[in-house]
Amino acid sequence: MASYSGAECLLLPLLLSISFSSSFGYLDGTTEPEVTFSQGNLRGKIMTTTHGRKVSAFLGIPYAQPPVGNKRFANPVPAGGWKGIRNATADGNMCPQLSNIDYVSFVGDEDCLNLNVYTPQISNRKNSSLFPVMAYVFGGRFMTGSIKSSVYSPAYLLNQDVVLVTFNYRLGVLGFLSTGDEVASGNWGLKDQVLALEWVQRNIRHFHGDPDRVTLFGHSSGSACVHLLTLSKLTIVFYEKEEWFDDFLENFDYLLPILMYWSYLPDSGAAWVKAAKSYYFNNIETMNRSELLTNLTLLVGDTAFKYPVYSALLYQFAAAVNPQYFYAFKYRGTWSSTYTCGKSLKDYGISHADDLVYIFPYADYNLTVALNKTPNEKDLQMREIMVQLWTSFATHGKPSTQFFRGNTTWEPYSEKDNLLQIGNKSEIVLEVQYFSLRERMKFWADLERSTLEAESNITIH
Ligand SMILES: *[C@@H]1O[C@H](CO)[C@@H](O)[C@H](O)[C@H]1NC(C)=O
Ligand SMILES: *[C@@H]1O[C@H](CO)[C@@H](O)[C@H](O)[C@H]1NC(C)=O
Ligand SMILES: *[C@@H]1O[C@H](CO)[C@@H](O)[C@H](O)[C@H]1NC(C)=O
Ligand SMILES: *[C@@H]1O[C@H](CO)[C@@H](O)[C@H](O)[C@H]1NC(C)=O
Ligand SMILES: *[C@@H]1O[C@H](CO)[C@@H](O)[C@H](O)[C@H]1NC(C)=O
Ligand SMILES: *[C@@H]1O[C@H](CO)[C@@H](O)[C@H](O)[C@H]1NC(C)=O
Ligand SMILES: *[C@@H]1O[C@H](CO)[C@@H](O)[C@H](O)[C@H]1NC(C)=O
Ligand SMILES: *[C@@H]1O[C@H](CO)[C@@H](O)[C@H](O)[C@H]1NC(C)=O
Repeated sequence: MASYSGAECLLLPLLLSISFSSSFGYLDGTTEPEVTFSQGNLRGKIMTTTHGRKVSAFLGIPYAQPPVGNKRFANPVPAGGWKGIRNATADGNMCPQLSNIDYVSFVGDEDCLNLNVYTPQISNRKNSSLFPVMAYVFGGRFMTGSIKSSVYSPAYLLNQDVVLVTFNYRLGVLGFLSTGDEVASGNWGLKDQVLALEWVQRNIRHFHGDPDRVTLFGHSSGSACVHLLTLSKLTIVFYEKEEWFDDFLENFDYLLPILMYWSYLPDSGAAWVKAAKSYYFNNIETMNRSELLTNLTLLVGDTAFKYPVYSALLYQFAAAVNPQYFYAFKYRGTWSSTYTCGKSLKDYGISHADDLVYIFPYADYNLTVALNKTPNEKDLQMREIMVQLWTSFATHGKPSTQFFRGNTTWEPYSEKDNLLQIGNKSEIVLEVQYFSLRERMKFWADLERSTLEAESNITIH
């Protein structure tokens, strides 16, 4: 795992323009913020950002009825209201899933369709300038994850004037089982996300959010996030049980489609295995272990993340009205997702989700505490940079930061294949670069195209 591979992601704006009139109200002079809106009264709690700003948190707000009984494997139904004051001071249930600690035990509850809202504390009722809203979709293979307020917290982002909304959605079988017909059409988890965004449209004004300026952002979304857990398992195995890699090589043709979720492809992905093998392991017999690991990392990174992101970018670029901003995150800070995934302090480079550490307190604190690592000045500066880029995008539609040098401008993506390189190993760097992996991306595009052609030939004839 010697190579430095940046996680390239998209900032994806979703500007919705339905607006509803309403009003907000906080009880002045109390430490417990309260909000009244169509569902009822909520009592939240105060949280403090890294800059010492007090913000209001409303946790576990139901946006859909519990998807149980005849609502299981069915479209979500908007939640009803409640009488009296509802405590919104603790996280709601997470959706049923396997624990991300041992991958074996079951956690969560089906009554999980709730969301969290974080808003800068406001005592001036007359202040009518609404804040832009940032709605976050967590990643986790569509099988795990939750909006746990200690992780997807306002600690960094709410140093700026934005409202943050996070929501749970059904995962795994309960979220995505489909029979391929009307009995169970599937995609329940995505429909939950849509309903949560509708809740934002209807209600976010009460939390001082502007329903006309909603930016949807996420990490590891779509097919890219499907591979996170596999990657982390793979990494654990590499270093705790060395002979595993030899087994892997011996059973490469069988294991690669399982690892990469290619089994749905024609002939269980045999053509892809053959092509990938000759492209990334062109002389597998003579490659030493470190070359093999390096190229396995390239292969997994390209097929799981880089190609999906790049091809999504090209589709967006061709079709979308809004501009796309493309970046390569290449900063290796004190905290890295590789510690969690690799269970080791070894420097494996920059990994998937390393950018997230600067937007949310995403690092595995137990591990970082155990490793006795505290963030340094550069890490804190990177946090400021990332928060400024993300919140300015949500506010003005254009990412910017005070840390840009005078001559740096992050232009929307264009045919030039321009991107912003954020970081250079342990250095703070913000520099316009040009995507350099076109040739490898072309390999995957060609493979995809030939598969689609072959498939459509089967369908047509
Ligand atoms: C609401 O939460 C507060 C703080 O967690 C707690 O003291 C109080 O008892 C709760 N009230 C209800 C009705 O659950
Ligand atoms: C409204 O609040 C924002 C953010 O706190 C502040 O910058 C602005 O001056 C306020 N406007 C009024 C009219 O109080
Ligand atoms: C590793 O993969 C790259 C990209 O396909 C390729 O150019 C290179 O030749 C491979 N290395 C070996 C030793 O096969
Ligand atoms: C593996 O092969 C490469 C290329 O021949 C070489 O640079 C590297 O030193 C080798 N690594 C080991 C551990 O032998
Ligand atoms: C940290 O470890 C403690 C004790 O094992 C556990 O109770 C706690 O949930 C862990 N925290 C996180 C954030 O995983
Ligand atoms: C931007 O300015 C720096 C000095 O501040 C200089 O080193 C760099 O070459 C400039 N870059 C461009 C693209 O002009
Ligand atoms: C990154 O650092 C390397 C040296 O480690 C240097 O050669 C390279 O030019 C730097 N790239 C950028 C974009 O700053
Ligand atoms: C699909 O059919 C077209 C037209 O008959 C042919 O040109 C193409 O080679 C076929 N593709 C594959 C992968 O068999």
